[in-house]
Amino acid sequence: MRDLKGQYAKIQQEIDEAVLRVMRGGQYINGPEVGMFAEALQDYTGAKHVIPCANGTDALQIALMALGLKAGDEVIVPAFSYISPAETVELLGLTPVIVDVDPDSFNLTAKNIEKSISATTKAIIVVHLFGQSCDMSPIMDFARKIHLSVIEDNAQSLGVYYTLPPTPLYRGLDERKQTGTMGHVGCTSFFPTKNLGCYGDGGAMMTNDDDLAQKLKMIANHGQRQKYHHEMLGCNSRLDTLQAAILNVKLKYLNDSATAHRRVAKIYTEGLKDVPGIVTPKEEPFSTHVYHQYTLKVGGGKRDALQQYLAEQGIPTTVYYPLPLQEQPAFRYTVRVAGPLTVAKELSRSVLSLPMHVDLTEEQQRYIIEKICTFLTKQP
Ligand SMILES: Cc1ncc(COP(=O)(O)O)c(C=O)c1O
Repeated sequence: MRDLKGQYAKIQQEIDEAVLRVMRGGQYINGPEVGMFAEALQDYTGAKHVIPCANGTDALQIALMALGLKAGDEVIVPAFSYISPAETVELLGLTPVIVDVDPDSFNLTAKNIEKSISATTKAIIVVHLFGQSCDMSPIMDFARKIHLSVIEDNAQSLGVYYTLPPTPLYRGLDERKQTGTMGHVGCTSFFPTKNLGCYGDGGAMMTNDDDLAQKLKMIANHGQRQKYHHEMLGCNSRLDTLQAAILNVKLKYLNDSATAHRRVAKIYTEGLKDVPGIVTPKEEPFSTHVYHQYTLKVGGGKRDALQQYLAEQGIPTTVYYPLPLQEQPAFRYTVRVAGPLTVAKELSRSVLSLPMHVDLTEEQQRYIIEKICTFLTKQP
């Protein structure tokens, strides 16, 4: 699905030098590379503050803690997503409200959020899934209207641009913002397979709010501003100096890898768009797409058989995600489920993600496309 070793081989000299510098420098915790990386990511994303932390799940948990929510407050999360948003909400004694997603983009929409709120709903976690932005403008308008906090889970979409709808002031101008910089807090992950992946765990939060930035920083560091003076409860969530040094190298290549992913996606889409029984990913007009995943919808209940057939042909695929959140045993009794969540259920039965990385050759892709066509056109 990814070629992590191949990626490393291409930039090995730069990475090895960066790692050796840290090893020789001896500042393994909070070394200068961590601050350098936070600044570089601020420049890249346009966020006013970037606060590195240990992983993307911690980023979400710290963001929720910084927003000052009370036990029992409801937080909206998408039904079709990775577990971290709902998990962190639940761990903090808050109530996840599981909301259905859009069948084409797989993302939360303002309309679905609006239908699902109650008097105790206090925040929303939107997840920009698979490398494409949620439609943030209507979501932020609604959130502002009823004073909801918005956390953007940008673990899969770092480097994605959202185009704001034209306003009288900006009519005709293409005003764009990066995902993770539009809500109150943006959270991301540097897990090795992410758009910007390190060689271990890593994460970051971003915000344009000075007070929130201060709180996020303190919570990630045991609630202290000054060493051994703990003003609030926090946790220990640091980005290792080694990982920061690696990320400083890899950030330079983030746009190139997004361009390469789009090239790979175009070949898949052109080869698969007319194959009966599958739907290729929809590109939303308001978002760039960096194809963190290239995810097909396979109809007619054939997804699992197709996956099995492709595995026999030496083609790896993954199902992100085989269960919608409402069917995860961990959440069975503790969440509020907003509506029948039929889209999330259907997606979990039909999605299939194909190999996606910068070194996938056209020949390899032609082989994958041919095998998918063979299976779907020959199977009754
Ligand atoms: C959408 C989403 N949110 C959060 C996370 C959590 O990130 P991490 O693994 O760094 O904790 C992931 C990682 O897989 C993710 O895909």
